[in-house]
Amino acid sequence: MIKNKSKINAAKEAIKLVKNGMVVGLGTGSTAKIAIDLLAEKLSNEFKIRGMATSIATEEQAKNLGIELVEIDKYETIDIAIDGADEVSPDKNLIKGLGGALLREKKVEIKAKKLIIIVDETKMVEVLGKGPLPVEVSIENYEITEIMIKKLGCELELRIEKDNEPFITDNGNYIFHLKFKDGITDPNSLNKSLLSIENVKDTGLFLNMATKIIVGNEKNIQIIE
Ligand code: A5P
Repeated sequence: MIKNKSKINAAKEAIKLVKNGMVVGLGTGSTAKIAIDLLAEKLSNEFKIRGMATSIATEEQAKNLGIELVEIDKYETIDIAIDGADEVSPDKNLIKGLGGALLREKKVEIKAKKLIIIVDETKMVEVLGKGPLPVEVSIENYEITEIMIKKLGCELELRIEKDNEPFITDNGNYIFHLKFKDGITDPNSLNKSLLSIENVKDTGLFLNMATKIIVGNEKNIQIIE
């Protein structure tokens, strides 16, 4: 409940940055969901926005709330994007994708003039990699991809659902969760190495992308920019 209040406080602050007429990247996950609800409450003749959704779940939420949506390829740049994150380091680098939507999130958020990240305090880390790093890979030859990724010095496992079947992303891929014993000390070089492996579609490392981090707590917010 405390966590939820923190998320609400962060989301409330973020939506203040959204102005009439903007195209807004709509994130995925429980914190982004709150921000989307709050944005929908604000809709009026004087406040109209268009959303670019980062997942099928978000698309459905936005549609049900009456937010007009634009296709992901419609614009090369969008005004702003608001999303949660799984981990945030002091230099505003992020791990995202534990909700399984990293590929579309990155596609949308890379277009945003401003990427606003909303989190509660539990997401702040000194070094990324406290938890797992999600990496999206093609289903085709995924066993070979697994061997290649392992060579980078991590343990990894396929994301499995409750029904014991592998999780399949909105884009029809699998997700590996990578764990580095000492955390991710050089995220830029790791990202490059991962992306150079055939069949790696994208990683949950969102580096040098966030404009502002809004960290909510029970009573207040803190801003990192
Ligand atoms: C979705 O794939 C993720 O990147 C989410 O943004 C992230 O998992 C944060 O989700 P919560 O806001 O639910 O913690």
